[in-house]
Amino acid sequence: MKLQIVFVQTLVTSVEVPVTLKIRTGWDPQSRNATRIARIAEQAGISAITVHGRTRECRFAGSAEYDSIRAVKAAVNIPVIANGDIDSPRKAEQVLQMTGADAIMIGRATQGRPWIFHEIQHYLTCGKLLPEPDPLRVAELLHSHLRELYQLYGNEHGVLIARKHIGWYCKGNKGAASFRKKINSISDWQEQLSTLKHYFSVLGEQQDKAA
Ligand SMILES: Cc1cc2nc3c(=O)[nH]c(=O)nc-3n(C[C@H](O)[C@H](O)[C@H](O)COP(=O)(O)O)c2cc1C
Repeated sequence: MKLQIVFVQTLVTSVEVPVTLKIRTGWDPQSRNATRIARIAEQAGISAITVHGRTRECRFAGSAEYDSIRAVKAAVNIPVIANGDIDSPRKAEQVLQMTGADAIMIGRATQGRPWIFHEIQHYLTCGKLLPEPDPLRVAELLHSHLRELYQLYGNEHGVLIARKHIGWYCKGNKGAASFRKKINSISDWQEQLSTLKHYFSVLGEQQDKAA
């Protein structure tokens, strides 16, 4: 283990920014080592540690082990960030309470729902749940997300990368499956944007009528 400490120490002292670490709870349920690794990390100068509450072998199966994250929090003095299965403001609150963590990290629940951070922050601050954003607002957010994707990857590649994000943003909407098929057949960025604009405006009208 000494070699790993030296490696982490070398990394920490070689850069001018704080170095953080993200770990799982162990190799497999028979060999959990998160608290030991967290202590080593702290000793080596790591600034904060994120724990995904599953072992490597568990991949994404089962539920996140918040008790293991709690044990890490109790074992070190650096900030601990809890991760795994947080998908709503209430779950965020529960995980913070159960683990005593200083912060949370969210992965899959942000896919197609980037406003989840604001929803959680609002709930933790005021204790109130925000309403779901209406289709026009979702369309605005998706539009700016896609413009950034086109900028980052270039228009041609950006359109392809955008497809999975569009699928996530539309998940659960009426007619989402057939719309996904349609959007996946489009290769031009302008057509992708205009098709989305039309889809969300129709969705907005349908919701207004149903209200
Ligand atoms: C598509 C995808 C890509 C990921 N890539 C990484 C990665 O590069 N590095 C990492 O530490 N974790 C990665 N993860 C794991 C997440 O950071 C996170 O630990 C895990 O999804 C559990 O959190 P969640 O339940 O909020 O999704 C990835 C997860 C997904 C779904």
